[in-house]
Amino acid sequence: MARSYFIHTFGCQMNESDSQRMGEALSRAGWVPTAAVDGADLIVVNTCAIREKAEDKLYSALGRYRLLKAQRGTKIGVAGCVAQQEKDALLRRAPFVDFVLGPDHLEKVPQLVEARGRVETDFIDSHDYLFPQADPQSSRGRATAFVTAMKGCDNVCSFCVVPYTRGREVSRPYAEIVREIAGLVEVGVREVTLIGQNVNSYAGGCGFAELIRRVASVPGLMRIRFTTSHPMDLSPGLIRCFFEVEKLMPHFHLPVQHGADSVLLRMRRKYTIAEYEARIAALPATIALTSDIICGFPGETDEEHRQNVDFLRRTPYDNLFSFIYSPRPHTGAILKMDEWGRVPRAVALRRLDEVQALQMARTLERRRSRIGAEVEVLVEHAAGQRFGRSRENWAVHFDGDAQLGDVVRVRVASASLVALRGEQVAVIDRAPEMAATPRRSLAVVNA
Ligand code: 5AD
Ligand code: SF4
Repeated sequence: MARSYFIHTFGCQMNESDSQRMGEALSRAGWVPTAAVDGADLIVVNTCAIREKAEDKLYSALGRYRLLKAQRGTKIGVAGCVAQQEKDALLRRAPFVDFVLGPDHLEKVPQLVEARGRVETDFIDSHDYLFPQADPQSSRGRATAFVTAMKGCDNVCSFCVVPYTRGREVSRPYAEIVREIAGLVEVGVREVTLIGQNVNSYAGGCGFAELIRRVASVPGLMRIRFTTSHPMDLSPGLIRCFFEVEKLMPHFHLPVQHGADSVLLRMRRKYTIAEYEARIAALPATIALTSDIICGFPGETDEEHRQNVDFLRRTPYDNLFSFIYSPRPHTGAILKMDEWGRVPRAVALRRLDEVQALQMARTLERRRSRIGAEVEVLVEHAAGQRFGRSRENWAVHFDGDAQLGDVVRVRVASASLVALRGEQVAVIDRAPEMAATPRRSLAVVNA
């Protein structure tokens, strides 16, 4: 009987996509996915290291899986950013783990299962790195897919572990990306999100703006999104795409991190708030702009926090992800912690609350302002109540008879912080008929 695997994924879209690639490599080696972790022969935990809390999740998951191992001899692998960060130290802390593999070695997962105690976390030189090829069949039955455009990050933000866990920037040749997307469209995918830790510094034979135009020329593709971007790599060409490329959705995640120049300097973000504001002012007014903010960065004073709040008040973000600063190993800020001063947790929490309250009120107001209006939705779930996303990337639940992959108009009846609700009023574009080959489920769980 074929052996079964279960992949538990934490973290960002890059990790979700890496989990799919690992699943595909295992399937090619004869493994089958299972949705029941208790019965799996192999569990791979794909980890995130961005904040301490994310890392803690790995160890609590491992605590549960260790019991399964004791009962049934389940093999356990740890992949992703904590694997890369900890390397063999992880095997010392959790000796029951069978193997550790970094993000450059996804396709080696079947070999590693057989070799106990193996650690594969070297970075592959950019000249030799080959991006794992996605199997479009694993996206059959989905309306949306992530497509890797680049990996790694050459920035030196002082809070961030990603340059350490994901290595230097490597871009994927554009012809490969376009080919993968054409394959995805053939199995019914209608929207792609181009992903990379710093996707707008893409350089795989053309610039990022040119990549978007090439992707837009794939027949049958309806929507393009991308994430995530550094403000300093926002080119005039990319801004023009938002005006000119109809398939590029009006949503832009452009993390600012803080609203005070002095904090941005300590964060090594390479821009001032005035520069950031000038760049976003050049975008179409209709764009739903989202951002990330860190509260309690080392040395953050009351005055700097006030500047942060003032900035947020005058910046019409559609939504905001805000975090308390978490010291990360191998980063610039952790080395300067004593010099700059640690912000007490209670103070950081109070500041975070203030930032969140401000944005929550605005997000709610923006959502409610759409009640009675119509939004255009790509249907992602068509069993029972329909679900999809608007062009701005808002979650929309609605009643109607739309099928997976249809683009429909929905009249909004109510709105909460997390989603709009409404009723289908028209079909704008029907999904093409697909051959009825069942989707190969990958048993990937996200948390
Ligand atoms: N502490 C808190 N938040 C962080 N982020 C990255 N590193 C840290 C850290 N050490 C946030 C940033 C980034 C988002 C993905 O996570 O805001 O944009
Ligand atoms: Fe987490 Fe960053 Fe790694 Fe994604 S790239 S899994 S966000 S640490």
